[in-house]
This record gives sequence, structure tokens and C-alpha cells, in this order.
Amino acid sequence: MAHQNSSVALIVGVTGMVGVALTEALANPTALGGPWTIYGVSRHSLPSWFPSSLLNKHIMLDTLNKQNTQKLLSPLSAKVTHVFWVAISVNDNEEVNISKNSSMLSNVLNALTSSTDSKLSHVTLQTGTKQYMGPIYDPTLSSQLVPYDAPFREDYPRLPFPNFYYALEDIVASYPESFTYSIHRSSIIIGASTRSYYNSLLSLSVYALICKHENYPFRFVGNKYSWEHFWDMSDARVLAEQQIWASVTKKAKNEAFNCTNGDVFSWKLLWKVLCDVFDVEFVTFDEKENFDFLEFMKNKGEVWDTIVEENGLYKTKMEEITCFKAIDITYKLKIQHVCSMNRSRQFEFHGYANTLASISFWVERLRQMKILP
Ligand SMILES: NC(=O)c1ccc[n+]([C@@H]2O[C@H](COP(=O)([O-])OP(=O)(O)OC[C@H]3O[C@@H](n4cnc5c(N)ncnc54)[C@H](OP(=O)(O)O)[C@@H]3O)[C@@H](O)[C@H]2O)c1
Repeated sequence: MAHQNSSVALIVGVTGMVGVALTEALANPTALGGPWTIYGVSRHSLPSWFPSSLLNKHIMLDTLNKQNTQKLLSPLSAKVTHVFWVAISVNDNEEVNISKNSSMLSNVLNALTSSTDSKLSHVTLQTGTKQYMGPIYDPTLSSQLVPYDAPFREDYPRLPFPNFYYALEDIVASYPESFTYSIHRSSIIIGASTRSYYNSLLSLSVYALICKHENYPFRFVGNKYSWEHFWDMSDARVLAEQQIWASVTKKAKNEAFNCTNGDVFSWKLLWKVLCDVFDVEFVTFDEKENFDFLEFMKNKGEVWDTIVEENGLYKTKMEEITCFKAIDITYKLKIQHVCSMNRSRQFEFHGYANTLASISFWVERLRQMKILP
């Protein structure tokens, strides 16, 4: 008789950076709470670089569509024990972010809890440091924000601005009879995917490769402050590890945790690593140059097409796999973008990564996936 796994994960956003890392971590025979059956949701079909043999089922579904979500997910409600929420809808302003991301999450949770035989016991919700900074990409609100001092702590009260993270937190907390939840606040994520909306590492890799191909200097894209001050990042493997840990750990239920690598870096140091990895010359940041990164990247799509063609890479369009606008905003913040990991440690989650080593690791993965040359 076939073995029926009792832990069944539904990863919503399975082809994003953390979706990939979660798939691999859950498929590991030593995964906490395992062995796991793994279902994954995304709107598009699985790309060739995705480790599809690790998934038990892929569900092509736009979770914004309530009827389809009900139709495709309610038959799984007697099976799915854990939801891992690692998807995002990005829109022009925060009110629309709230509306769309809330609908996506509610549609999925309602489909999985509407029947009496629902097995759903825990939902992990990934959010991020905008919890402490506010909606930094909103064109109207961004100029009014006064972020909290770093290191960001989980117990900082909510900021008085609309924020889709707050809306999603309220939604997962509104099913106390049905399941427990945990919140995972990420810093800049490093991982490997062409399907993530905000993908710093891939964006910087594309920029470095275009500079190399066209013989341009690989100049830093942020400001003097971030060049010199401390930042942190979240390796997708650490995010996956924390989410799986919380999903099966009693004391982590209904709690929020920052999730970063646990170390800090300055962009100056990280830029040297990128230069080594892509074999481009290191040039120090010069404020006087007034380098306009967005202007520079305009119309570079054809150069990327050539690089993809010359190296026989998985077909991508520069505009679809990069987030230059977000980088231009984020790396010019005048704050130390650092989270405290004390709370995680107090709760005995000890996952960590060496950020500078993570960069090389994930670039190598992107090469193996034929996304980068
Ligand atoms: N990326 C970062 O650096 C970063 C940093 C800090 C915090 N965060 C936060 O982490 C959370 C998750 O973000 P993320 O960057 O991990 O997400 P992501 O990788 O951009 O999510 C993409 C995944 O979601 C799927 N997806 C998108 N819309 C969908 C829909 N309507 N229905 C079903 N699947 C859908 C995508 O596949 P399809 O396109 O095929 O649908 C893909 O699998 C967000 O709250 C984000 O703000 C991210």
C-alpha cells in the first residue's frame, strides 16, 4: 500500500525564490515534520529550471480569481495541513496592494477551510521590513514615512500608514478556530528564480553582465550612505528553514519573527564580491558622478537578449526578471537596513547564513539553472 504522508504542504508562489527553496527544503528527507507531500501553486506553468520532480502536484491558478480558487483548492482541503504563503501582487499604490493581496490570501484560506473535513492546521505568512519602514514604493506615501530605528524589532508598533502586510497579518489571525499561523519578516531576499517580482540578486547580475559585455564600469547603484553603512539580507534557504520550523513548533504558533541571515554587510564589501563573481573591475563609489542607474539601464534590453542568445540561456526578457526601479529606491534609503534576530534566537531558531558566501552560492545556482551565463 502506498505510504500516505500526513504532512501536506501547499506552497502558494512555488516558482518564486522562496517557493523554490521551500520545495527543496520540504523534499529533504530530514525536513522537520516530514515526510512531506508538496503541492505548489502559481499562475504560470513550471519553468524548465524548476526542480519539478520534487513536487507531488502543481496547480496552475490565479488566486485572485475567487471561483477558480474555490474550484481547484477546496477538493484539497481534506489533505492540505500547512500553507506556505510566499506570493505577492505588486501594484501602483498601497491601497491596491492591500486589496489584491488580501483577496488572494482570503480566497485560498476560504477554499481550504470551508468544509468540515478541513485538515489545515498552520499557515506561514512571509512579509518583510516594510513592516518597519512603511510603503516605500507608494508614490504619494513614500515621502511622508519616518521609519523605525534599526535594528528593527518585532515588537515595534504598526506605523500609521496603509500597509498590505498589516492587512495580511489581520487575515491570518482571523481564523483562530481553524488554524495557527506564523509571520516571517524578511529582509532583501537572495535566491534563484526568474518569477520573483523583487529579485535583487538577479537584477544586479544582469546589470553586471551588461556592463561587462559593453565595457562599462560596474558602478554602485545606491547612495553614499548605503555604500558605507550596515545592511542585511535573507538567504531563501534560511527563510524556508524558519518557516518549516515555525510550522511544526508549538511555541512559535501565532508569533511574528524577523528572518535574516543574522549578519550584516556594507554595500562596499558586497560590491567587491559581485565584482569577483562576475569578473568585473571594482570601482569605488563616487558621489560626484551623479550616476543615474535607471537612465543607464533604459534600452539595455537588447544587450541582455544578445547575452541570452550567445550563451544559450533560458529565455528571459530583462524587463521581466529585474526590479531596477525598486533597487533605485531601496539602495538610496538613508537608514541602516538591519533587523534584530534576537527574538528568533530566544525561541530557539538558530538558522543563519554568511551573506557574502550566499551571493556566490546563488549566482552558481542561477548558472546551473541556465538563467545566467
Ligand atoms: N523579494 C524580496 O526581496 C522580498 C524582500 C522582503 C520581503 N518580501 C516579501 O515576501 C513576500 C513574498 O514575496 P516574494 O518576493 O517571496 O514573492 P515572489 O517570489 O515575487 O512571488 C512570486 C510567486 O508567486 C506566484 N504568484 C504571483 N501572483 C500570483 C497569483 N495571483 N496567484 C498565484 N500565484 C501567484 C508567482 O508565480 P506566477 O507569476 O506564475 O503566478 C511566483 O511563484 C511579500 O510580502 C514580499 O513583500 C520580499
